[in-house]
Amino acid sequence: MPQKIVAGNWKMNLCLDEGVDLIRSIEASSLPSDVKVMVFPPALFVDAAKKTSSSKCLVGVQNFNAAEKGAFTGEVSIKQVKSAGASIGLIGHSERRELFNETNAILKDKVDAAIENNFQFIFCCGEPLEVREAGTEIEFVRNQLEESLFHLASDQMRDGIIAYEPIWAIGTGRTASSEQAEDMHREIRAMLSEKYTNDIAESISILYGGSCKSANAKELFACPNVNGGLIGGAALDATSFCAIIDSF
Ligand code: 13P
Repeated sequence: MPQKIVAGNWKMNLCLDEGVDLIRSIEASSLPSDVKVMVFPPALFVDAAKKTSSSKCLVGVQNFNAAEKGAFTGEVSIKQVKSAGASIGLIGHSERRELFNETNAILKDKVDAAIENNFQFIFCCGEPLEVREAGTEIEFVRNQLEESLFHLASDQMRDGIIAYEPIWAIGTGRTASSEQAEDMHREIRAMLSEKYTNDIAESISILYGGSCKSANAKELFACPNVNGGLIGGAALDATSFCAIIDSF
């Protein structure tokens, strides 16, 4: 069975004291013990986030550079974020793809860098509205996975996590229906099974992201192939984030 995961992507929100308070509140809540909770603060706050959290709450980064080190002003490497306490990173969030021109080739390098550095990742995929309206979302997502992720060998893929985040649902209040989410997640699992083995496909967590909140999390998480959520706006408040975690 895939691990159940609820992850909060803070994006460029919250200041240091607010982030620390949020983690303290999450830590103080009684949450289901079979759900892995993760927070993705701005990289600047990883050290403080790690010092505030126990093993109950894993700390990750929203982005990193694939290069080991060097003259990359403003960037952070995996070694750096690991040294500050991050143990996992997002790769290929649609905002990185769209606003910072991260191509499938760039994301492939990040996947390779994560593997080389023994750094767990959540690989994000998902289609824009026009692709959904054209009915070609499965091919679109397949292409994202094939060009950036599916070159990995089976043993490298085993610890990977995938997040399906349809772009039209991110920050829009327009959540994918549980049928739409389940359909895509089932397809992604079938792709994993086709590319790797049934065993691997059955063990990889596939998270849903896009306007997921406490009001719809229960229905989404009840889908057999939805193993949790990657939460944006609703992860910025401890009450709503914990209510989502409790939805399992
Ligand atoms: P929202 O939950 O705000 O729609 O954001 C989803 C997301 O992008 C998480 O990575």
